[in-house]
Amino acid sequence: MKKSKIVSGTDKRRLAASLFTFMLCFLALLAIIFIMIVINDVQGWISYLKEYLSQVLSLIICVFLLCCIVYYYYYFEDRELLYHSRNIILVFSVFAVAIALYFIFGKYVSVYARPFALVALVFLYLFGRRQAIMLNFVFSLLTFIIDIYTNNFSVTVSNVMYYSLMLGFVCGTFSIFAAGGVKTRGGLLLAGAAVSVPTVIIVLLFELSGINEIETTAFLLSAVWGVVGCVLSAVFTLALLPVFERAFNRLTVFRLRELTSTDAPLLARLKTEAPGTFNHSMTVAQLAEMCALAIGENAELARAAACYHDVGKLKQPECFTENQTGYNIHDELTPELSADIIRSHTKDGYDLLIAHHMPEIFADVAREHHGTLPIKFFYAKAMKISGGDVNIRDYSYLGPTPHTKIAAIVMIADATEAAVRAMKERTPETVEKVVRSIIEERMDLDQFVNCDITMRELTVIKQALVSTLSGVYHHRVAYPAIRFNREGDAEREEGAE
Ligand SMILES: [Fe+2]
Ligand SMILES: [Fe+2]
Repeated sequence: MKKSKIVSGTDKRRLAASLFTFMLCFLALLAIIFIMIVINDVQGWISYLKEYLSQVLSLIICVFLLCCIVYYYYYFEDRELLYHSRNIILVFSVFAVAIALYFIFGKYVSVYARPFALVALVFLYLFGRRQAIMLNFVFSLLTFIIDIYTNNFSVTVSNVMYYSLMLGFVCGTFSIFAAGGVKTRGGLLLAGAAVSVPTVIIVLLFELSGINEIETTAFLLSAVWGVVGCVLSAVFTLALLPVFERAFNRLTVFRLRELTSTDAPLLARLKTEAPGTFNHSMTVAQLAEMCALAIGENAELARAAACYHDVGKLKQPECFTENQTGYNIHDELTPELSADIIRSHTKDGYDLLIAHHMPEIFADVAREHHGTLPIKFFYAKAMKISGGDVNIRDYSYLGPTPHTKIAAIVMIADATEAAVRAMKERTPETVEKVVRSIIEERMDLDQFVNCDITMRELTVIKQALVSTLSGVYHHRVAYPAIRFNREGDAEREEGAE
């Protein structure tokens, strides 16, 4: 079930494109550094460049090597990310914005007021913890190198540059762990405030090591700027994340929350135009979230993708059982036509989500959540009418089969929700039996051959579904069939046994 690691021709072309983008981004970064040198001394920058030519060349080489570390990391650790050049532009864009802010705060306010946790926090939400740690380290070194040649306009390294480097490392790394589980904007501001604790400690240590006597005013001022810088890191992160999310179509926990709000345009349409599908989707989303959590996948992403898995039904909501109230259009259609309408909801969902510029993974889940499974009801109906002369492919979904664990989870959760809803007697044993047969049937029909889900994960998913469904469809305690009238007298309810 593992994906092939062989680099195909298309992948080579994508890598070449990413290398070209990388070089362009590197040149853009040099241009920003050059602008900073010019701003530092508008009158004398030409003579500065002449005088310190060898240092400027060292700066270019150092910046290039640091950028190479980023490329090298992604080449070996997350090559998929390199296949999309926009990801490289995103990394350099964050670097560029942060370098500009560092320059402004370092030059015009105080070096301690720099938003030291900004890069770490932005990358934490855009790419995850591991990449945020690596990119923050590279960025801290990058700003240290740039500081030497720009901010102080000197080839000698002053203490304040070391302070800045240290604060970049420590505050960035600390903020990654402080904001690791944070999923709200208020929580992010609190995490930013929490980072001020190590910042103030480091500032105090700097002040202690720098001079024999602590100058109270200077220390207090530096500490205040340190706290301001930490809070500003969170504020800038909140302000910049929506820009990067939309410009580069990246998903963060904040955007996923927005997309799963029932007021999100497509979900609002589903709620009014296909209420049955809407309810089904919400339950599937809950199940998918639990399954993803159980196997260590991104639970928020699974939930959001599941919310949209059936949006293709918006094209003809009345053709799907959950939205019907008595009249069934399929009674008047041939089974072939009915099957065609039913199976087209996966492709329609994909097209609708792409047209609405929704995340690609949502569209993929919508297209893949039935894989190439047969539409049993209409296949059986056609068999009955034709006497057995039916091609199963005419009554099967067009696929493709799931390519991601999230899509596989939604496939299983979707089928389970429908099957369990139809069950008369729901006990953990009967639910377990149904979920097991759903998973086994999909394995028999090769629905998981294109995604790297393991047997162990399928077992964990089964257990998660059984325990969650026991909660969703628990039996309510029968309430006494008594109704009170205005006078407070109890009467026996009509129709009650
Ligand atoms: Fe579906
Ligand atoms: Fe569904």
